[in-house]
Amino acid sequence: MHDLARYRASTVLRPLTLPILALSVAGFLAVGAAVAETIPIDRIAHIHDLAVDPDNGTQLYLATHNGLFVAGADGQANRVGDSTADLMSFAVDPSNFDMFYASGHPVGGGNLGIMGSSNRGVTWQPIAAGVGGPVDFHAVTVSQADPKVIYGMFNGLQVSRDAGLTWGKAGSVPEKTFDLAGSALDSETAYAAAMGGLFVSPDGGRNWNPVFMQKHPTTLVEISATGQIYAFVYGVGLMKGDETGTGWKVQSADFGDRYPVKMAIDPRDPDRIHVVADTGAILTSKDGGRTWGSYRGHDRETPELVAAARKTYEQYCQSCHGENGVGERPKDMNGQDDYGFVAPALDNSAHGWHHDDANLAHTILNGSPRNPRMLPFKEIISETEAKNTVAYIKSLWSFRSLACQGALHMKCMR
Ligand code: HEC
Repeated sequence: MHDLARYRASTVLRPLTLPILALSVAGFLAVGAAVAETIPIDRIAHIHDLAVDPDNGTQLYLATHNGLFVAGADGQANRVGDSTADLMSFAVDPSNFDMFYASGHPVGGGNLGIMGSSNRGVTWQPIAAGVGGPVDFHAVTVSQADPKVIYGMFNGLQVSRDAGLTWGKAGSVPEKTFDLAGSALDSETAYAAAMGGLFVSPDGGRNWNPVFMQKHPTTLVEISATGQIYAFVYGVGLMKGDETGTGWKVQSADFGDRYPVKMAIDPRDPDRIHVVADTGAILTSKDGGRTWGSYRGHDRETPELVAAARKTYEQYCQSCHGENGVGERPKDMNGQDDYGFVAPALDNSAHGWHHDDANLAHTILNGSPRNPRMLPFKEIISETEAKNTVAYIKSLWSFRSLACQGALHMKCMR
C-alpha cells in the first residue's frame, strides 16, 4: 500500500445511490478457546486480520504472520492452537461463531488453500484448494446474508456457495483491491476497498460499480450484521453509511498520515469497533468511529475514569504542563527554565507519544533525572492514579499519535 504515501486529498465524498435490499441478522454460539504461548501485542510482527471474540467483546482474534492469537485489553496475546502458518486472510462464520476460515502460507512455503476450523482455531483442516489452487486468498469474506456464500481474492474473485467445499471463478476485482466485505442484506452483493475507491458488485463479482463519485484510495470496508457499512477513504476519513446507500458521512477525519487497514465490529455492540493501523497498532472506538483510543486498557478506560483522572491532572500537573496538556510555554517552543527545559506538552504537539504507557507512568511516579521540577509523584498519588493520568493524557491524542505510540513511533518517522 506504499502508493498511499504519495496520495493526498481532502474533499467531501458524494455517494451514488445503491439498490435497497432485504435484511438478515446473524446469531450467536458460545465455546472457549485453548491457549499455549503468550506475547505482548506490540511484539506481533504482522496482524493481517482480526475479529471480535463473540463471547467476550474485550477480546480479539488476531490472524498474524505466525498463526492465530487471542488478545486481551491487558496488552497480551495468547496463541490459539499450535499452527504457526502465515494467515493472510481470516473470517468468522456469522451464523456459527465456532467456525473460522483462513488462507495464506504454510511455514515451509507455498499456499494453504482454504482452511477451516470448527473449534475456533484450535485445530485446522484443509477444506478446498480453490480455483487454480492451492490458493492464497489475500482477502476473504463470508456473506452475512447467506453464510454458505464465501468470497475470496486470488487471481480475481472466487466464490463458494457451499461453505467453502467447492469454488468457482466469480469475476475480476477492481485493480489493487485491499479488502472485501459481503453484504448483510444480499448474498450476491459484495464490496471491494481498492486503490481506485470503494466498489460494490450487485451480481456476485461480475460487475463492479463505484460507490462514490470521487476515486480516493480506500483501505478497508466492513459491514455490521445490520447493514451498517464502514470504509476508510484515504485523505477523507472513516466513512459510515447504510447499505441502502443512504446516510454516508465522515465519522472522523483526524488520521494524519496513518490509516486503518482492517476492522472488526463487535457483534453484540455495533458501535464498538477495533482497527489495525498501518503501523500495526490496534485502536478501539466505542462510538462508531467518532473517537479513538488504544485497544490496550479499553475495557478499563471508561469516561468516568478519564474524567476523574482529568481532575488529578488539573490538581497536580496543569500548573506546569498547561490546560489540556498544551505545555508550559506553548507559544515559545524554545522556552527554558533554570535546568534548560520547560514542562513539555503532553498532547499531540510534543513527543509524549514516543513513550509507551509503562514509560509514561514510570516518569510520573519517579520524576525526571534531568529536571527536578518534574517531581517523583509516587509520594503524592497512587500507582493506579498515575496509570489513570496516562489514560487521561492519551485521551488528548489523535489517531495518529495512538497509532505511533511507543516502539511503533520509529515507523512514523519519515
Ligand atoms: C513543577 C512543574 C511540573 C509539574 C507540577 C509536573 N511536571 Fe511533568 N514535567 C515537568 C518538566 C520540567 C518535565 C521535563 C523533564 C525533562 O525534560 O526531563 C516534565 C516531564 C514530564 C513527562 C515526560 C514527557 C516526555 O515527553 O518525555 C511526563 C509524562 C510528565 N511530566 C507528566 C506529568 C504529570 C502526569 C504530572 C502531574 C501528576 C506532572 N508531570 C507534573 C514539570 C512538571
